[in-house]
Amino acid sequence: MSADATRAGLDAALDRRFGDAGGLAEAAPADGVPGLAALARHRVIRGYAPREVPGALLRLVCAAALSSPTKSDLQQRDLVLVTDPATRARLVELCGGDHWMPSAPAWIVACGNHRRQRQLHEWRGHPFANDHLDAFFNASVDAAIALAWAVAAAEAAGLGCCPVSQVRNHPAEVAALLGLPGHVFAVAGLTIGWPANEGTLSSRLPLAATLHHDRFDDADARAHVDAYDGRRHALQPYRRQRDVARFGEVEPYVWSEEKARHYAEPQRTGFGAHVRAIGFSLD
Ligand SMILES: Cc1cc2nc3c(=O)[nH]c(=O)nc-3n(C[C@H](O)[C@H](O)[C@H](O)COP(=O)(O)O)c2cc1C
Repeated sequence: MSADATRAGLDAALDRRFGDAGGLAEAAPADGVPGLAALARHRVIRGYAPREVPGALLRLVCAAALSSPTKSDLQQRDLVLVTDPATRARLVELCGGDHWMPSAPAWIVACGNHRRQRQLHEWRGHPFANDHLDAFFNASVDAAIALAWAVAAAEAAGLGCCPVSQVRNHPAEVAALLGLPGHVFAVAGLTIGWPANEGTLSSRLPLAATLHHDRFDDADARAHVDAYDGRRHALQPYRRQRDVARFGEVEPYVWSEEKARHYAEPQRTGFGAHVRAIGFSLD
């Protein structure tokens, strides 16, 4: 799909994305169309051209990302911009070394940072009276919002990017590599570079399933997922089936089957222990 910033382009992107958003683009004020179209056209890019991204442009993307809203103005998130080749190579290794990862000339690692808040209490001599799950949660949310802003900023600059939760596969090793102290943790990485391909506009569950009006209602969840499975399979069939040795081959191999297989395997079972080890109380 071309970078069509027109109302028709917005309409086409939303239609492909959700299947039930037809006509919504009509609601966009004329000067809102390009920005909304850019968001609607989002797709991750896994594969980058062998072309350097200027350091100043990377800093600009980070500055835009750190302009994101932050809970109570607490600013409990930081970014680690990784361009050093040796550090990048080790990060790729710790993230599972997916074949496309080495092509990324830079990574931005979005971190929750609750260390600074604790320092404020120390420096100001006031007790910290909120040592519970919310502290970890707030920093995680702030970091995730900054990550989302970084995606939008990168795409606005013509760059491609892909978030990487695999930074949490080996959280202690990633913390050591990036020098993360206690109460600072990687939420996700973001590979970033000039796109080597156009990516795919990936379809989502219909708005009927995920946009609730006034009151949450998932009475038709199964029917929506079944319909989405069919629509998505027609638009974006999976190239490979996961864990065929355990689950066999099925046709059609649809989204709900893929996601149920995905989480049939334990993942990151050590993350909670890491989070506690760096000082958080999760009660
Ligand atoms: C928090 C987060 C973590 C992600 N982690 C990974 C990852 O570790 N590896 C990967 O290839 N893609 C990762 N992704 C990308 C998603 O797979 C991708 O967003 C999703 O398939 C939908 O595709 P789209 O963003 O192009 O619409 C991640 C996305 C998010 C938001």
